[in-house]
Amino acid sequence: MYKAFFGFAENPFNMSPDPSFLFRSAQHEEALANLIYGVQSRKGFVVLTGEVGTGKTTMLECLRDFLHSQQIAYASLFNSRLNVQQFFEMVAYDFGLRCTRTSKTEVLFALNEMILERANLGRTTVLIVDEAHNLDWDVLEEIRLLGNLENRRGKMLQILLAGQPELDRKLEAPEFRQLKQRVALRCVLEPLQLEETLEYIQSRLTRAGLKEQTVFPPEILREIHFRTQGIPRLINAMCDNLLLTAFALETKVVTMAMVDEVAADMRLQWPGQRPFLADGNYAERTLREQRQYTPGD
Ligand SMILES: Nc1ncnc2c1ncn2[C@@H]1O[C@H](COP(=O)(O)OP(=O)(O)OP(=O)(O)O)[C@@H](O)[C@H]1O
Ligand SMILES: [Mg+2]
Repeated sequence: MYKAFFGFAENPFNMSPDPSFLFRSAQHEEALANLIYGVQSRKGFVVLTGEVGTGKTTMLECLRDFLHSQQIAYASLFNSRLNVQQFFEMVAYDFGLRCTRTSKTEVLFALNEMILERANLGRTTVLIVDEAHNLDWDVLEEIRLLGNLENRRGKMLQILLAGQPELDRKLEAPEFRQLKQRVALRCVLEPLQLEETLEYIQSRLTRAGLKEQTVFPPEILREIHFRTQGIPRLINAMCDNLLLTAFALETKVVTMAMVDEVAADMRLQWPGQRPFLADGNYAERTLREQRQYTPGD
C-alpha cells in the first residue's frame, strides 16, 4: 500500500518467514550453523527453542533451502497437534512414501527401507518438526524411537525439534529422560539486543530497496526496540503499522506520537509501561519521560 510512497521495491516488514529477508544476527547465524552441522555430522536429535516470534520457523526455512540445495531428503511437519496415526500419515505423505499411509506398521516399514537405502548410499535423511512444544507425549515417544536407527557412521535419521521454551520443560519430564539424553545439540534464540534491532530494521529496509533511510529517526528506532523488546515479529508488525500511519498522514518521517498510537493499537506491553485507558490509549507519558527509558530496563 505504501510501497510507492516510500520508494520500496518490496514490502520490508512482511510477516512471513522469508529467507530472502534473513538478517544474520550472530545468534541466528550460530543457530543455522548448528542446525546444518547437526544434520551433516549425523548427530541425531537437535532442539531449537526460542520465545514466540524470535525466528525459529525462519531458521527452519533457511535449513530447508540448504537441504534442498544438497539434495538431502526431508519431511517437515508444521502442524504438531497430531495423534500418532496422523503423525505417521503426515510423515509418509511428506516423504512421499509408497505405502498405506494410514497403517503405522506399513509407514514404519517403508520409512525404514527408505532411510536404510539412503544410508547405504552415504546419504542422510531429515525429519523437521516445528511447534514441537505442542506434541503429545505418545507422538514424542514415537519420534524418540525413530531416532534410534543408527549405523557405524552415525544416526540415519536426523530429527530437528523446534518450539517455544515449553519444549525444553517438556523434555525435562522424567518420562523423557531418554529423549533428553539423546539431544546432541541445542540452539536457543533470544530476542534481539538494541544494536541488533537497529541493524535488523536497516537490513529489511535495505533489502526492500531503501538504502539511506530517514523514515525512522534514531530515537524512534530505540523506542521501537524498547516497546517490542527486540522480538522480530513485533518489530515487523510495529514498523509496518508505523509506515502505514506515516503514509496515511502523508509524511515520510515517523514520530513519537505515531509510535504511541501504534503501540496502543497493538496492545503492546513493555517494562515501565503506563496502564491502558478504556479508549485504547496508554495513560499520558511525557516525551521527556520517554527519553529517560533505557532500553533493556
Ligand atoms: N533473523 C531474521 N531475519 C529476518 N526476519 C526474521 C528473523 N527472525 C525473525 N524474523 C521475522 O520475524 C517474524 C517471526 O519469525 P518466525 O515466524 O520465524 O518466529 P517463530 O520463532 O517461529 O515464532 P512462533 O513461536 O510464533 O512460531 C517473521 O516475520 C520473520 O520474517
Ligand atoms: Mg514458528
